[in-house]
Amino acid sequence: MIELHRVWKVFAVGPVKVPALSDVSFRVAKGEFVTLHGASGAGKTTLLRLLYREELPTEGEIEVLDYDVPALRVREVAELRRSIGVVFQDAKLLPGRTVYENVAFVLRVLGTPRREITPRVFDALRAVGLSSRAQAYPAQLSQGEAQRAALARAIARNPLLLLADEPTGSLDDTMAAEVVDIVKDIWAGGTTVLFATHQARLAAALRQRTLTLVGGRLVKDEG
Ligand SMILES: Nc1ncnc2c1ncn2[C@@H]1O[C@H](COP(=O)(O)OP(=O)(O)OP(=O)(O)O)[C@@H](O)[C@H]1O
Ligand SMILES: [Mg+2]
Repeated sequence: MIELHRVWKVFAVGPVKVPALSDVSFRVAKGEFVTLHGASGAGKTTLLRLLYREELPTEGEIEVLDYDVPALRVREVAELRRSIGVVFQDAKLLPGRTVYENVAFVLRVLGTPRREITPRVFDALRAVGLSSRAQAYPAQLSQGEAQRAALARAIARNPLLLLADEPTGSLDDTMAAEVVDIVKDIWAGGTTVLFATHQARLAAALRQRTLTLVGGRLVKDEG
């Protein structure tokens, strides 16, 4: 499902070169739930961005869903992304559109047949417990609801792989637990999950295989 071999990502900040990821290798099998743990700045977001070709590695090999990710052409990048749901660190809902529209928008962009859009949006909203908030605008949502809307948007396409970047980062414990339960339900439905968090307590509570990044290096793979 995912395979990284000796991956480096080095950012040039002016004349200085800063490695965000150093020599990272690991595999994730289909159907796994993997927690990606590391302090702020450890490289979690950078790693996820490499997987859906938002960034290119400086060096190394990346395979996701049998695609040689760095070598993809534009059309193939779109194909890859159709199979991956991403929940961004900051929810990234479009403020001028309702919850319904935020979810429907992605399906339209992905070329989903028109008649399938409404049922799929409502299936996704039901899965995250937001059916009654479909007509709300992002500014009217609590942070927990906003994160659940972002999750709905990510799963509406039935992705094979879900990349969740600190989906509970801004939430209190109760709301965080709700979001975690939803992600676990999605996983139980067969979706492979990579769940990034800087919270050691949450990483432990997830009770899943955990990859630990320290300063861009993968220092632990256990559980
Ligand atoms: N576009 C960029 N240009 C330069 N440096 C970058 C860029 N993106 C990330 N970095 C650097 O790479 C390192 C890893 O950043 P990254 O965002 O991947 O960390 P993170 O683990 O997601 O942190 P957080 O928990 O705060 O989200 C940091 O030192 C960051 O400053
Ligand atoms: Mg991050």
